Amino acid sequence: MEELQRNIPEKLVFLETFGCQMNDNDSERMLGFLKDIKYSRTESPELADLIIINTCSIRDKAEQKVYSILGRFRELKDENPSLIIGVSGCVAQQQGKALLKRVPHLDIVFGPHNVHKVKELLAEAEKKKRVVATDFKAGIDEDEYAYGRTETGLKAFVSIMRGCDNFCSYCIVPYTRGREVSRNSADIVSEVRSLAASGVKEVTLVGQNVNSYGGGGAGFTELLRKVAGVEGVQRVRFITSHPKDISPGLIRLFASEPKLCRHIHLPVQSGSDGVLKAMRRGYTAEEYLSKVSMLKKLYGDISITSDIIVGFPGETDTDFDATMELINTVRFDNIFSFMYSQRPGTHASGLAAQVDPDTKARRLKVLQERQREITAEKSLELVGSVKEVLVEGRSKSDPGESSGRTSCNRIVNFPAAAGLNGAIVEVTITQAYPNSLRGELRERSVPCY
Ligand code: 5AD
Ligand code: SF4
Repeated sequence: MEELQRNIPEKLVFLETFGCQMNDNDSERMLGFLKDIKYSRTESPELADLIIINTCSIRDKAEQKVYSILGRFRELKDENPSLIIGVSGCVAQQQGKALLKRVPHLDIVFGPHNVHKVKELLAEAEKKKRVVATDFKAGIDEDEYAYGRTETGLKAFVSIMRGCDNFCSYCIVPYTRGREVSRNSADIVSEVRSLAASGVKEVTLVGQNVNSYGGGGAGFTELLRKVAGVEGVQRVRFITSHPKDISPGLIRLFASEPKLCRHIHLPVQSGSDGVLKAMRRGYTAEEYLSKVSMLKKLYGDISITSDIIVGFPGETDTDFDATMELINTVRFDNIFSFMYSQRPGTHASGLAAQVDPDTKARRLKVLQERQREITAEKSLELVGSVKEVLVEGRSKSDPGESSGRTSCNRIVNFPAAAGLNGAIVEVTITQAYPNSLRGELRERSVPCY
């Protein structure tokens, strides 16, 4: 049997991923399942036997990208009729059969709940059938996570839950990823143990709303504690937190759990109470600010990042000013900012007072310019401080330098001999650039592996 498997020629999959951390994890699972049937990854679609586009529909622009990419692959299919093309992710979930109709050279359409079925779907497509798998599963079956990791390295993302029950009025995720379900904590810890055994030092727990995790009796704080307790794990991160669900227990955990990185991504979306209400976010600007000020008071070095939407229906200049005031008060380390995009089927897409595109673009520009200044000022404040850096490899721009990240998730480059990969070292920050910091290895820094 083993002999037989060894004789199966290797096949190549080209996989392109768009969107959030959940899609990254879904792609990694697909590659893991495909590895069982001898598929390995190629960066060239021209060489591929299988092409998969793992899509995002959070904004219209992301969705439109899928159609233009699929158009590019039509010629490849004409040249090689045995090439199989699939679309997964949120656009696949939303469009289903309609996507097959719209794209005649497409073979497989499957949503986020069907990632683990990728081998079966492929087998069907090899019989020249066109297949759609967009059914939702109520729970999580651990078989969905029984895949061999293909990524190697010091860092890994571990999915702890799926779906979202929040139904923020602008957001398509609850419709494409379904109701929120948590994986059992024992299964998550066992996945983390095997990652640590294979050399992973930093684990990021991912979910659409990690603060409402509840699997096998453990809440999120308890899960973090368990994961941090795994031997070999040096750092633990998590993403994404919902401000309404962040608990005092989690806030306290930063003090008692040294492996928990000093960074929290806490999407605020807007600084106006009226807009927050219409977005159905479940908190006011003041409530958000009080959580942030507690975090900052307790942990002076914590990095806080956020997501902001401008031009939500009904957003006035005064509402936008409130958002500007909020970013000036919080002084986020960085933000991801977006123009509101109407998503079919969401509550907000039906609201009458849509903001015109020019106003949205103008507000986005103002917001981003101010945030760039704040980010630069915050980077400068780090100059002179000493930071623990997990060394990840050589610097992209200078192979004589090492590169890694601080606990607060900043990239730091510094001159050092090779061989420090995986170590946590102390670096004095000497210079700040827009997207990275530069430093010097402290003379008496003893690497901790
Ligand atoms: N339009 C613009 N941005 C959106 N986001 C989610 N839905 C929309 C939308 N319809 C943003 C939110 C979220 C991030 C992942 O994407 O800021 O936090
Ligand atoms: Fe979308 Fe809101 Fe759920 Fe985040 S919390 S995925 S913005 S519905």
